[in-house]
Amino acid sequence: MAICSTKFVFLLFLLSAIPIAYLISLELATPPTHVYHYHSSGWFRECAKWDHLNSRFLVSFLDGGVAQLSLPKGGDHSTVTVLEELTVIKDVDLVGNGSLGIVVDHQRNRLLVVSADVIGNKYGALAAYDLSTWQRLFLTHLSGPTIPIAYLISLELATPPTHVYHYHSSGWFRECAKWDHLNSRFLVSFLEGGVAQLSLPKGGDHSTVTVLEELTVIKDVDLVGNGSLGIVVDHQRNRLLVVSADVIGNKYGALAAYDLSTWQRLFLTHLSGPSDGKSFADDVAVDAEGNAYVTDAQGGKLWKVGVDGKFLSIIKNPLFTPKEWYKNLVGLNGIVYHPDGYLIVIHTFSGNLFKIDLASGEEVKLVKVVGGPLTFGDGLELVSPTKLVVAGTTARLVESSDGWETASVAATFSGPKHRLATSATVKDGKVYLSHLLGMGYPRKKHAIVEAVFSA
Ligand SMILES: *[C@@H]1O[C@H](CO)[C@@H](O)[C@H](O)[C@H]1NC(C)=O
Ligand SMILES: *[C@@H]1O[C@H](CO)[C@@H](O)[C@H](O)[C@H]1NC(C)=O
Repeated sequence: MAICSTKFVFLLFLLSAIPIAYLISLELATPPTHVYHYHSSGWFRECAKWDHLNSRFLVSFLDGGVAQLSLPKGGDHSTVTVLEELTVIKDVDLVGNGSLGIVVDHQRNRLLVVSADVIGNKYGALAAYDLSTWQRLFLTHLSGPTIPIAYLISLELATPPTHVYHYHSSGWFRECAKWDHLNSRFLVSFLEGGVAQLSLPKGGDHSTVTVLEELTVIKDVDLVGNGSLGIVVDHQRNRLLVVSADVIGNKYGALAAYDLSTWQRLFLTHLSGPSDGKSFADDVAVDAEGNAYVTDAQGGKLWKVGVDGKFLSIIKNPLFTPKEWYKNLVGLNGIVYHPDGYLIVIHTFSGNLFKIDLASGEEVKLVKVVGGPLTFGDGLELVSPTKLVVAGTTARLVESSDGWETASVAATFSGPKHRLATSATVKDGKVYLSHLLGMGYPRKKHAIVEAVFSA
């Protein structure tokens, strides 16, 4: 079991906007119940408690401090009203520490706040404050493990009892994993750029306690600064297609192909540059002729690249751009090629699923999904011609009996949510989800988790 460090949470911010989008997606993925939104001065809010006597929420800051969110007079609140955060606690002697769990102790008219050094894990304290004056009543130094670590360990332990391939890794972020059955290995892409293989032990036996080792097979110097995102194994041509993109600046996108035996680069096709506006080349699928289709999660389009690496065309459609701006933060994402000659593509923030018929002039249709929309769906993989896995924090198994004109959500699976599932692959008929975040100390460990779906 991994011993967790909270450092990764901070790395998350330093490294990329994508994990932030995922965090937002986790945040937005709450069921469609009533929501209190509030404007805030900080990115992290650890804990919120309702203070009924004073008709306000109290929220703690991971960067230290506590605020109140008073409800409008009258008590009426619609989801569109955004509350305002008013800082009520900000202790100078605790600067550098975060505020974590809080509890309202009405009987004594006070708020108890756990304070801890979230990064270094070297300080822990409990403070009490008067609920009316916000005067500090006491500050008690604690020892022992701090709250966030205990919290992450509890999430890690809550992993469902399905089969897991753990692997040691040199990086915190692994975007996509695909099973390469001919070579008995997983191939995984690095958000910081590059691809590794995870070979299974000879004999094929694997127990959950065996930790695989990551062996880097692709690391292109001319692509430094770009991330490697979607990958697809094109066995017919013995090659791997890899999407490369400037994850932070959204100013570069490319598709590369590599020989699966020698790892020699076969082509590198430029898709977008600084003068093309914001783009985010994200995922890729390959058709029967070897043409590749790359989704642009920012620009609402697909790039088509020929079998030899020649740039062919852009596929655009008004359906790709929902009218609400926020639904375009992460747009076209996971993509698969269906053996009957069409593409299936997911639009992450709207949850829309599209069928793009390659035989009929790349006609785009919205797939009607019963039990949808497939909001926050990420990577896709076909389990069979009638069954599609949509990866995500909650993975969904979607079925269609009419050639993907209509479909329905048949079952779901939730793995270790804190690791953020981003892609799906099929190994020996079983679905495996790969997760963005690695954990562990001193070595980072990632997880590829079997998804066992239930209705
Ligand atoms: C947390 O607060 C304690 C007590 O004031 C202080 O000694 C410590 O340096 C703070 N931690 C950090 C990381 O600044
Ligand atoms: C991504 O790679 C391209 C092509 O070599 C390069 O021009 C660009 O600077 C790289 N992007 C970043 C953010 O370094």
